[in-house]
Amino acid sequence: MRKVRLRESLRIIGRGSLNWLADRPLVVSFEVTDSCTCYCKHCDHGGPKDDSGNLRPEDYRRYMEALRPCVVQVSGGEPLMRDDLNEVVRAIQCGQGLPYTILVSNWSLMTQRRYLELREAGIDQFSVSLDFPDDRHDGFRGFPGLYSHLEDLIPKLAKLGYDDIVLNSCITRENVGEISAIADKAREWGVNLCYSAYSARRTGCRDYLLTSDDELARLNGGLDRIEARRDSTNWIVNSTTTLDATRHYFERGGAPGCSAGRRFLVVTSNGMLQPCSMQFTRYRLEDRRKMVDEFTGHNTCDQCYVSIRSYLDKSFPRLLWENVSGFLSFR
Ligand SMILES: C[S@@+](CC[C@H](N)C(=O)[O-])C[C@H]1O[C@@H](n2cnc3c(N)ncnc32)[C@H](O)[C@@H]1O
Ligand code: SF4
Ligand code: SF4
Repeated sequence: MRKVRLRESLRIIGRGSLNWLADRPLVVSFEVTDSCTCYCKHCDHGGPKDDSGNLRPEDYRRYMEALRPCVVQVSGGEPLMRDDLNEVVRAIQCGQGLPYTILVSNWSLMTQRRYLELREAGIDQFSVSLDFPDDRHDGFRGFPGLYSHLEDLIPKLAKLGYDDIVLNSCITRENVGEISAIADKAREWGVNLCYSAYSARRTGCRDYLLTSDDELARLNGGLDRIEARRDSTNWIVNSTTTLDATRHYFERGGAPGCSAGRRFLVVTSNGMLQPCSMQFTRYRLEDRRKMVDEFTGHNTCDQCYVSIRSYLDKSFPRLLWENVSGFLSFR
């Protein structure tokens, strides 16, 4: 994974440290649309939605000035459905490498031209969802031809050499046997890899959780093989502590100690704040502290271990160390 330059790393860490002390979020996820091109089995966002209330690109400045995150996720729905996505990304940039900006997308609408424009606009990392290393991905995502599009495009863009593409694979009961094969695919395509964990909180459906001893054994065997494949290129983006916490999440059926609303939060497509993408109590931007008091202060939800949590449910020294040695890295 491409390493962020020393000067920018220091700025990101500096802003993160200030936010930690000031009780402001380190990571903000902007859901820039609720619409989607896919109909995934594990998600509630599928298909077109009413986009008339979406924030406009210039509205994002106000959120950036108030929240001052050091890391931003641009997500959805499917963010590439917005024709003005380049402007949204530009509006989020504060200059001098801040914030570190990640586009979370299914890439059904990605092209070489859009990839290069989005890099130019300020995207530091392209997170591409991949659930299977073959066209079973199409069936899971309800989008015929998606896998063949990814198979064609990703290696081509990887060859440009920017080293900023990360496959994001959400582990479910259906793909738990594919952990290693998805890693093979990432290597074959020349890109990086990050695992996350299915949560039933989004749809209420528990069918994709891992529960049996056999499923947990396959999870552990798959992740053991991943641990053995780490190298100095940092192509496995998750830290070991995060993959260990993912194992425990599935074993226990939950992961307590969530800091949603305080260390990270979601801005919905129409500009309301939510503690996370799966808690639907909404607050105005001006009422962020109320959200921390009312929601975070009393939150007992342990129903996910998605990436945004895995970055942040750690002590500050560990978070800093993992970011310095991996996610941000020095060169
Ligand atoms: C909600 S999607 C939005 C961005 C984009 N449409 C995509 O699929 O990458 C962001 C990520 O959430 C994951 N996701 C969806 N439903 C989930 C669930 N129930 N539990 C955990 N992750 C989920 C997806 O696999 C995807 O990687
Ligand atoms: S996971 Fe992403 S691609 Fe799939 S329905 Fe949800 S928002 Fe759309
Ligand atoms: S554990 Fe935290 S991030 Fe996950 S659904 Fe519950 S409140 Fe949201």
